[in-house]
Amino acid sequence: MQDIEITRPDDWHLHLRDGPSLQLTVNAAARVFRRVIVMPNLKPPVSTAADALAYHSRIMAAVNPALACAGFQPLMTLYLRDITEPAEITRAKAGGVVYGVKLYPAGATTNSDAGVTDITRVYPVLEEMQRIGMPLLIHGEVTDSHIDVFDREKVFIDRTMGPLLRDFPALKVVFEHITTADAAAFVAEGPATIAATITPHHLLYNRNHMLAGAVRPHFFCLPVLKRNTHQEALLAAATGGSPKFFLGTDSAPHSKHAKECAAGCAGIFNSDSAIESYAEVFDACGALERLEGFASFHGPDFYGLPRNQDRIRLRREAWEGPADAVMGSESVVPMRAGEQVAWRVVGGQQA
Ligand code: NCD
Ligand code: ZN
Repeated sequence: MQDIEITRPDDWHLHLRDGPSLQLTVNAAARVFRRVIVMPNLKPPVSTAADALAYHSRIMAAVNPALACAGFQPLMTLYLRDITEPAEITRAKAGGVVYGVKLYPAGATTNSDAGVTDITRVYPVLEEMQRIGMPLLIHGEVTDSHIDVFDREKVFIDRTMGPLLRDFPALKVVFEHITTADAAAFVAEGPATIAATITPHHLLYNRNHMLAGAVRPHFFCLPVLKRNTHQEALLAAATGGSPKFFLGTDSAPHSKHAKECAAGCAGIFNSDSAIESYAEVFDACGALERLEGFASFHGPDFYGLPRNQDRIRLRREAWEGPADAVMGSESVVPMRAGEQVAWRVVGGQQA
């Protein structure tokens, strides 16, 4: 048995869904993470300052103080559309709850149909974001049907990410949920204005876990799990101590039957075991002393926000991930269902 204490972490990429789902999603995240960057891909999307304020209120109404850490704060994002006006970004910043703008290439993932069809169409919006210091959060995959699904991140880097950084040298860009050695190298070698989030599932698993011997739909997410050499590059990036890489769970629940069917949805629910899974991965890499930087420092430093003041305690003590979680009237199968999780949260200490 071993205990470690780290500054309370934040989750820089999270899907909370809406309505009755919020009871599960909000409190599962808020038990550990003080701040969470909330993805805007609802139906319809959160695309105006007013939408973000209303969604923020619904999230706060779902916080259960018996489960959530003190001071839980959802950091809202806007869903960028071809039709988004620069003035909407200015309004969102003034509203005080929006901390980023999310770019989904149209058709790239769950609820992305209303996304951007051509990045040059939103250049006026990006100008305004650069001017006022609003970060751009990118789902970095092309959507062309003739590009292999395993190559879509790499092609996006060459086609879109490179030109974007040249055209907007002062815009803060988060390359969300990177999945390849190419993305890790691009971010590591890029300017100080680009950083990336890395999920627990892309550190724990590769595509063999999803496909060898049987199809395991609960490991299906986008961008899809890649081969093990990419997993190894992500492990090196996350545990290497670079401030450009930080925690973003991409916890994205879908009901059990929306995943266990002929056309299963992409998304993995992991909020109930996320920090524990990251601790397990860092421990296995012999890099536990770097967990705090990745989980608690690099994210707020990049966003220009203060680091948390209180701490959590983790213990190397195995537990079995539960088979399901209740989300409204549905059942969700969590990422670690039936697996042994090597670390657990045993408490915290308020600031
Ligand atoms: C996300 C979802 O379900 O909203 N799914 C996923 O596989 N990660 C969308 C996304 O982040 O791509
Ligand atoms: Zn996501």
